[in-house]
Amino acid sequence: MTDSLYTSVDDLLRANREADQLRFTTAGSVDDGKSTLIGRLLNDCKAIYDDQLAALNRDSKRLNREEVDLALLTDGLKAEREQGITIDVAYRYFSTPRRRFIIADTPGHEQYTRNMATGASTAHLAIILIDARHGVLTQSRRHGFIASLLGIRHLVVCVNKMDLVGYEQAVFERIRADYSAFSARLQVPDLVYIPISALRGDNVVNRSGNMPWYDGPALLPHLEHVEIGGDRNLVDFRFPVQMVNRPNQDFRGYCGQVASGVVSTGDEVVVRASGKRTRVRSIVTFDGERPLAFAGQAVTLGLEDELDISRGDMLSSPHNLPHHGREAEAMVVWMSDIPMRPGQPILFKHTTCLVRGTVSTLRYRVDPDTLHRRTASELALNEIGRVSLECFQPISWDAYAANRVTGALVMIDPHTHATLGAGMLIDRRVQPEERLLAQTRHIRRETSLVAAADRARITGVSRPCTVWLTGLSGSGKSTIAKLLEQRLIGEHRLAFLLDGDNIRHGLNRDLGFTEADRTENIRRIAETAALFNDAGLQVIAAFISPYASDRAMARELIGADRLLEVFIDTPLAVCEARDVKGLYRRARAGEIPAFTGVTAPYEAPKNPDLRIDTTRLTAEEAVEAILALLRSRER
Ligand code: ADX
Repeated sequence: MTDSLYTSVDDLLRANREADQLRFTTAGSVDDGKSTLIGRLLNDCKAIYDDQLAALNRDSKRLNREEVDLALLTDGLKAEREQGITIDVAYRYFSTPRRRFIIADTPGHEQYTRNMATGASTAHLAIILIDARHGVLTQSRRHGFIASLLGIRHLVVCVNKMDLVGYEQAVFERIRADYSAFSARLQVPDLVYIPISALRGDNVVNRSGNMPWYDGPALLPHLEHVEIGGDRNLVDFRFPVQMVNRPNQDFRGYCGQVASGVVSTGDEVVVRASGKRTRVRSIVTFDGERPLAFAGQAVTLGLEDELDISRGDMLSSPHNLPHHGREAEAMVVWMSDIPMRPGQPILFKHTTCLVRGTVSTLRYRVDPDTLHRRTASELALNEIGRVSLECFQPISWDAYAANRVTGALVMIDPHTHATLGAGMLIDRRVQPEERLLAQTRHIRRETSLVAAADRARITGVSRPCTVWLTGLSGSGKSTIAKLLEQRLIGEHRLAFLLDGDNIRHGLNRDLGFTEADRTENIRRIAETAALFNDAGLQVIAAFISPYASDRAMARELIGADRLLEVFIDTPLAVCEARDVKGLYRRARAGEIPAFTGVTAPYEAPKNPDLRIDTTRLTAEEAVEAILALLRSRER
């Protein structure tokens, strides 16, 4: 008992020690001074490390542990090689007394995107080098964008070669302002700017006397202190089975690397594909049997029952399941000279399985300079785009944002086996349908004693329905909706307006404007509208609701016979010229991320129940048109 307690504490301590290890990547072109910077870090830190080694030598016990950990590092890289990625990235290691560092040094030639995407996939932090003389280039923006796509939460923009611009504060500030205007649109929570000279050693290891105006840390102290403990997923247990191991009749074990989360002996686990459950009987590691295993560890799991499990199957906790299916959405970084076209055969390498499939749709390409979405028929080398993909066999997956291992895909040419691209899976629904189902399985609906007709007598609404207004910000939705509400009340029909800006102050105050948040916004509104309709009220809903799939969800939740979709069709240029709230101007200035029409898409309805062309109709005429449609429905 005490023994096993100690081993688990030891294991947990080891898991925590991961935080002592920072993986980072450097991006910049050949001339930005990347090699000089790395050279300086390695060189100056070796001196520190030698001191530390001398201290460690006096403590052989601690030295032993150091060796074990170094072996673990190389294991991690081996796993990456087995992923089938051809990495032309050099890894370098160095340490200071505070932390160990692994640098993925991505060469700065043309194929930087590829290197960035493969080398940076496990990085905690990315350093972006900008030459003080040249300022922000397309490449600096592209690197930042890819880093944010890869879920790297910490960015350091090093403005290098400050010595060549006379250590001028104004130069640094100009570059910082320039890059900030762009980076405001990225989802990177931690971004730091440091003026340096890698060649002269200014602000690399020690604060420089040449730039007294800079009051932040030098680069190395920043790397030593940046908080990365919370970046690892220790919550969702995922174990992609790599190999079934059956040394004798009595033992059958499943080998693999814990992708995320923690598992202990006795825990219940489920095979995602079959839904079969069992418990963990034993956990065997290189160091023998352990009571638990955590993210990153290579282990063999023995299970209580013999289940049909093979390579590529995913074990998880029954309370927290990954998605499972043949279709998914992804952001893709394309890495082949031959462009990607929808329909081409592709081998998807996902965790430990390799499945055939294809890209069914290329939704859009992203311009790395502006982050605008462009329609495209193909993705060329180094381009980034959003796709729908289809695998010919189901895979168990998570969104990349939640899980960097089970959310990542490598795309491979089925004939040459060359790497074609890297994909990051996207979860559009906040709550997977299946989890919802599991929650509602034991809940039964109560039926009301009140008939709809009795409500109608009070509300004056004979057939309650929801008029759903969709359109760009500033298209006139709210103006039309308010007039419509007023008209209906004037006719003694109890109508109520649900409006985007209002609901976001209350019910949906916890939501922002990411795709997932917008989906959740629409889901809650649709549920509310459905309840109000049940209550006998006429609902008017005015929301941008930019995604066709979200509007389809609203139709499903409210009921197709109770929903009227009205497209307030005002061209972007008109909305932008009006700019009633000044939001377009701010979005163009980079102050509002993911702004619909500017840096986020609007998918216009193809078959709305009514289309209102506001360049030809006044708001009053629009209201008349909607009322006419309502009347025709009531007949
Ligand atoms: S929706 O996309 O999720 O349907 P919703 O209609 O609720 O959006 O809210 C849109 C309103 O929020 C806009 O009218 C605007 O005033 C404000 N807003 C703030 N940030 C954004 C943004 N990034 N994109 C669009 N609208 C935004």
